[in-house]
Amino acid sequence: MISLPTNLDELQENLLDVFRRRRSVRRFGPKPLAVSHVACLVWACGGRRDLTSRSAKRTVPSAGATYPMTVYVVCGDSRVGELEAGLYLYDANGHALEKIADRDLREDLADACFSQNFISQAPISIILAADYAITTGVYGERGVRYVHMEAGHAGQNIYLACTALGLSTVAVGAFNDEAVARVLGLPLNVEPLYVFPIGYRD
Ligand SMILES: Cc1cc2nc3c(=O)[nH]c(=O)nc-3n(C[C@H](O)[C@H](O)[C@H](O)COP(=O)(O)O)c2cc1C
Repeated sequence: MISLPTNLDELQENLLDVFRRRRSVRRFGPKPLAVSHVACLVWACGGRRDLTSRSAKRTVPSAGATYPMTVYVVCGDSRVGELEAGLYLYDANGHALEKIADRDLREDLADACFSQNFISQAPISIILAADYAITTGVYGERGVRYVHMEAGHAGQNIYLACTALGLSTVAVGAFNDEAVARVLGLPLNVEPLYVFPIGYRD
């Protein structure tokens, strides 16, 4: 487990300014991110809003507080501070990253997203994935809609956090579900919903 910084002050920004500056960017330079950036980003889309409390609800609303989403980070070689290349799973309880694969998966991920090659240039990608059954178990078929709504909330938080941090991103929904699941080695009950390549604008 890699503990993440709990100081999120870098996210302090003027809300009006952040709304105005949010945009999609598809050109990423090689400049590495800091681990503190990754900490802010995974917290913004999947963290507990009070990091000192394990019972605190999250930064993103969730129908019935069912929390079907998981947050993965694909990290390139030498692209985030001292973080090694690989695939990480965000643990909201511990505000930590669990490493689950060792390789730089960015090119494989770009291929799985119909060769949207800017994904292989971005230092990291955050992938939002979900276990639908967690929410449909409570709400039946309507839970599918709720999971998609929740992903939208999380995705907007990623856009706004990137903007506040001086970073860029684009929401990627065009990908082959099976191929992304294979690249990330997702459990059978977990489906990829959204990919966000993130970095400094080129
Ligand atoms: C659900 C969804 C899926 C998207 N998928 C892609 C995608 O696969 N590739 C891409 O380059 N942009 C994708 N986008 C980004 C849109 O193209 C972008 O938001 C739109 O052009 C408006 O530009 P803006 O975000 O700068 O305001 C997606 C956006 C949404 C909301």
